[in-house]
Amino acid sequence: MEIRIDRTSSSRLPQVDFANLGFGSVFADHMFVADCLEGQWYDLRIVPFGELSMSPGLSALHYGQTIFEGMKAYRTPEGEITIFRLSDHLRRLNRSAERLCMQAIPPQVFEEGLKQLVRLDADWVPHNGSLYIRPIYFASDDQLGVHASKSYRLIIFSSPVTTYYSTNLLVQVETNHVRATDGGIGYVKTAGNYARSLSASQRARAEGFNVVLWLDSINRQFIEEYSTMNAFFVIDDVAVTPPTSGTILEGITRDSMIRLLSDNGYKVTQREIAIDEVMEAGRTGRLTEAFGTGTAAVAAPVERIHYQGEDIFLSTDHSKWPVLSFLRKRLDDIRTRQVADPYGWVSVV
Ligand code: COI
Repeated sequence: MEIRIDRTSSSRLPQVDFANLGFGSVFADHMFVADCLEGQWYDLRIVPFGELSMSPGLSALHYGQTIFEGMKAYRTPEGEITIFRLSDHLRRLNRSAERLCMQAIPPQVFEEGLKQLVRLDADWVPHNGSLYIRPIYFASDDQLGVHASKSYRLIIFSSPVTTYYSTNLLVQVETNHVRATDGGIGYVKTAGNYARSLSASQRARAEGFNVVLWLDSINRQFIEEYSTMNAFFVIDDVAVTPPTSGTILEGITRDSMIRLLSDNGYKVTQREIAIDEVMEAGRTGRLTEAFGTGTAAVAAPVERIHYQGEDIFLSTDHSKWPVLSFLRKRLDDIRTRQVADPYGWVSVV
């Protein structure tokens, strides 16, 4: 499928302060756009990043058929540009699409559009961070009435970033709201899952925390995830993360971490883990590391966990956190091609 390219006549690159990027507020020069009507893809184009014109009747705005991904491109010391786990992100996007009754995205549309976009905006990949790539996919019928849309639009755009969390995680365990329920859409990367997390997050922030940890909807006891990351706890030298059984996002960073740990002599297990167990391990000094993982955050260490009036504090000397240190370094080395990639995770564009 041919992709039309309309280059910007005036790049915004010279205005970017690469020393102070933060997360997600600066956008690269171009975006890839593709439309689909009743399964037929058409008008694949790369155009200058800019505003969209849309009808107030756009069905995604009403009934929530809208999904997204978060992926990253890196610059290697040799100057190549890599994309991490491209086909796994498409697989997850299409799993989200299937659950929300949306047309699947063909690999050739997604991969070709993405690669050509990243090649065109290669100068936007920072030397001191990564290019965060945000594919969004939404229903584009211009009609009211609750049914699956006939038309869809895929847009891929990008943003040069450094870390998502600039400080350690100060965690409030949420005991009132729930993020997801069995049989629901907790595993889908859709706007609604983030929207339902916002009021608890806002409450937590007002009380001095920067992230919420969600519990299961039935027992209000088993750990699910942070709103922005999967959760890992190192207890008695074993890295534990809850199984992704439908209510938890199947994190690609999470999966990478599990594979890196188990292939490199670390103990790692996926099992249900109760908040009571975490607090008890914290009280007795057996909880030695806790962190969140995600594409944006990579691996963010926890400093404090607050649950039912009690606080657990973890050491902030992360040089003494062997699991976190290993994961950060190995993942970085794979993504920047400093060590072999036995998993085929890295695509050079
Ligand atoms: C990601 O990690 O890529 C996400 O989509 C999470 C979001 C909070 C930035």
